[in-house]
Amino acid sequence: MRETEVRVGIVGATGYSGRELIRILSRHERVSLTYLARSPEGLKNRVETRSAGSEPRFHRLPVLPYEADACVSQCDVVFVALPSGSSGQIAAELWARGLVVIDLSGDLRLPTDKYEVWYGKPPAPKEAQETAVYGLTEFNRPLIRAARLIANPGCYATCATLALYPLIQGGLYAPNTTIVVDAKSGVSGAGRTPTQNTHFPELAGNFYAYRVGRHQHTPEIEQSLRLSDGSIILTTQLLPVARGIYVTAYVKVEKTCSIDEIDACFHRVYDSEPFIRLLPPGEIPELKHVLGTNLCTIGFHLHPNQGVLQVFSVIDNLMKGAAGQAVQNLNVIQGWPETTGLEQEWPFYP
Ligand SMILES: NC(=O)c1ccc[n+]([C@@H]2O[C@H](COP(=O)([O-])OP(=O)(O)OC[C@H]3O[C@@H](n4cnc5c(N)ncnc54)[C@H](OP(=O)(O)O)[C@@H]3O)[C@@H](O)[C@H]2O)c1
Repeated sequence: MRETEVRVGIVGATGYSGRELIRILSRHERVSLTYLARSPEGLKNRVETRSAGSEPRFHRLPVLPYEADACVSQCDVVFVALPSGSSGQIAAELWARGLVVIDLSGDLRLPTDKYEVWYGKPPAPKEAQETAVYGLTEFNRPLIRAARLIANPGCYATCATLALYPLIQGGLYAPNTTIVVDAKSGVSGAGRTPTQNTHFPELAGNFYAYRVGRHQHTPEIEQSLRLSDGSIILTTQLLPVARGIYVTAYVKVEKTCSIDEIDACFHRVYDSEPFIRLLPPGEIPELKHVLGTNLCTIGFHLHPNQGVLQVFSVIDNLMKGAAGQAVQNLNVIQGWPETTGLEQEWPFYP
């Protein structure tokens, strides 16, 4: 390890987001991976689909059951990528013991009263929730730079917020109107624990909506856009593909606004952003524009007679929607170029 390298750990290294973190951080020139952990020993009494021994040997480090003392002694920074309910508790503990912590779960994103309503789980310690900085990098850099505890955003929330923010900030959204967010995700968004809904015969050749009216990213999107409760109608749907989020948002805009004004508004906000790609008006993004990258690609179509704008936004849920954005936030905290370790701009194809 070089002296300038930061020691980084991943708790949840056997999960989809954890594995993506390993993929990125193994090539990151400023860090050294020093600690990889899965769930704590006490939680190992659930159904296992694969034994630890059948994991591909994806890194020279062993993946151990999580243990706080080992993590604290071996890391400067830790990514916690466990299921909601467990993740925030462990993130809070490691932060209280002096580590810089980036939590990928939803546990630290909402105030505790809202968290209990939308997640139906006991909240993480209030002090940690109140201290955590929401890590949507593009809109929160000054706070992220100074933070030691990050609530990394949700995948649907990232994709929808990036699609909508310029319209709200630029005053083009017709205030107090409902925004409809039609969102579709690849099945890795549900994590690697198998369920009936994510079982191959249920999913292959199928397509369905889930958690209609009660998806936990609804209040997260409203909060990050500073809209009042109930402003967003979010429909989340499961696509029979492994990765990717596709959002189509329907937004009432001021009737007089033209496609050129909308285009200019998005360019004002995003032209200096390394991970946002704007398509010319009329061009529509596809999942395969972004898979395997940290990019968000955005296109739009105006219906001038109805005063409705459709905004199309795509990300890779495991990259900009999880591990990629988490590393982007690490780069901001450390004062490194934001693209370090995330330079890959060519998506998987086909
Ligand atoms: N998947 C996505 O696209 C995505 C996007 C944004 C945010 N997130 C969030 O990131 C976190 C991780 O998501 P993921 O999809 O990577 O999860 P995952 O694939 O289900 O992996 C979960 C990880 O947590 C451990 N784990 C499983 N059950 C546990 C339990 N009851 N208590 C403690 N640890 C447990 C697993 O370890 P073992 O190997 O020991 O079981 C594994 O390392 C979640 O909070 C999720 O909401 C996910």
